[in-house]
Amino acid sequence: MIDEDKLFEAALIIKNSNYIVVFSGAGISTESGIDDFRSPGGLWERYDPNIYASYQYFLQDPSLFWKMHKEVEDLVGTAEPNQSHLTIAELERMGKVKAVITQNIDMLHQKAGSGKNGAKIYQLHGEYGKLHCIKCNMEFKYDEIDTKNVEYPVCECSGYIKPKVILFGESLPHGVLEGAMNECTNADCLIVVGSSLLVSPANFMPSIAKQYGAKLIFINRENTIMDDLADVFLKGSAGEIFTQLLKIIKLNIKV
Ligand code: APR
Repeated sequence: MIDEDKLFEAALIIKNSNYIVVFSGAGISTESGIDDFRSPGGLWERYDPNIYASYQYFLQDPSLFWKMHKEVEDLVGTAEPNQSHLTIAELERMGKVKAVITQNIDMLHQKAGSGKNGAKIYQLHGEYGKLHCIKCNMEFKYDEIDTKNVEYPVCECSGYIKPKVILFGESLPHGVLEGAMNECTNADCLIVVGSSLLVSPANFMPSIAKQYGAKLIFINRENTIMDDLADVFLKGSAGEIFTQLLKIIKLNIKV
């Protein structure tokens, strides 16, 4: 059961904010059928990230990464946005959300309409759908290469082809981190949703926003290591919480 008082408190913060930045993690997409990483049954329970999601391992043997990736690539490619993604896009249409910073590669924020009404989107860990050769940097789309009948795809120049997602030990896309951090200095409200906040430098965002005076709303199924930064912590399903929040805000219920 979601704490009603906290729902109203969060709705009031949202109603009084005009530069809301959203920071999302894998937990926002579990209700779209995509497992997160660290919940029970999550991806890192099945694949050791120090091997399967390590850039160094990829350079030595891409087959490990591709074995894991093949399990998720169809799912990520066909998943639909859920109520959380849709509400965030609605808050952008209402002129409230000005930026979305996501650790996710599933493009579900864009599929929900985020970015279509002026908000900037920062994909800290890259995005599904684009691949490149790590030797000659040639870019590819999934339908331009065979990823099904080979252990791993190789470029004509003999370089390994890799999705443009950030593995452990790989640097973040140039300029994206700086842009995201800058948004956090502008925010009057940061909504942190579906993240364990365990991975840096992505997890710098909440403390930067706090330092520059933003109100922080956390929406998460479990407690996180940074709960003390939250002005309001809404514990539960992100989809249900966003649905309730939008109802309160839209019905203009006296909050
Ligand atoms: N509603 C609310 N919270 C949820 C839901 C849900 N429906 N489903 C999961 N969660 C919460 C979990 O309780 C957990 O705290 O979302 C969080 C997801 O945490 P992680 O699995 O650690 O995902 P994330 O924080 O995005 O991981 C960051 O780590 O492995 C790397 O590159 C990977 O981008 C990823 C980064």
